[in-house]
Amino acid sequence: MRGILDLEQNFESVVLGNHTHRSGSLFTAPIMYTLAKEMGAKNILEIGIGSGSSAYWLGHAAKEMEGKYFGIELRAGAVNELIEMMNEAGINHQIWNMNSLNLTSNFVRDNIGTVDFVLLDGSHKPEVIWHEITTLWPHIRKDGKGYVFIHDIYTSSKEGWAKVKSEYPETMEMKERSGMGIVRKI
Ligand SMILES: C[S@@+](CC[C@H](N)C(=O)[O-])C[C@H]1O[C@@H](n2cnc3c(N)ncnc32)[C@H](O)[C@@H]1O
Repeated sequence: MRGILDLEQNFESVVLGNHTHRSGSLFTAPIMYTLAKEMGAKNILEIGIGSGSSAYWLGHAAKEMEGKYFGIELRAGAVNELIEMMNEAGINHQIWNMNSLNLTSNFVRDNIGTVDFVLLDGSHKPEVIWHEITTLWPHIRKDGKGYVFIHDIYTSSKEGWAKVKSEYPETMEMKERSGMGIVRKI
């Protein structure tokens, strides 16, 4: 069995919970996948890839929209296997081994362009979440179909989420399973 989620497993097996890798993403990843596709998201960015279970869904959404999955992960080598599997699955991708604190607006403009859909799930420190969302915000799709998801808002991201919620006009949250915050650009 592969160490991280096998991208070749079909969606039914993941939805039914029979897949090899289970995490909090079991519930939220299919929701993100469905929404990203419904909104026609092409450029999908994940910060904090970890074991790759969200990457599975987000990568497939990007593929089905003929777009691209972008990922940022701090740990060197953590995503080697994921890259291999994305290549095998025909998912167009670009993954950077970097600290999101080094993310700049110019980097996003030059390497991604307009960002349609984002999952922030790297460091949960408030200052990191704030740096990520404020750097990305000018590049988020502007037609009401651009979304930023923030994981763990009822646990480690609580403080960071409170600030985001107070500063951004259109937010909502899902409470269970550590919580997921959603910000829509309007
Ligand atoms: C909770 S895991 C991500 C889980 C993944 N999003 C999923 O749902 O399958 C968090 C990951 O973020 C990475 N990380 C932590 N701080 C980071 C930072 N400042 N920049 C980029 N990645 C970071 C960690 O190395 C770890 O792999």
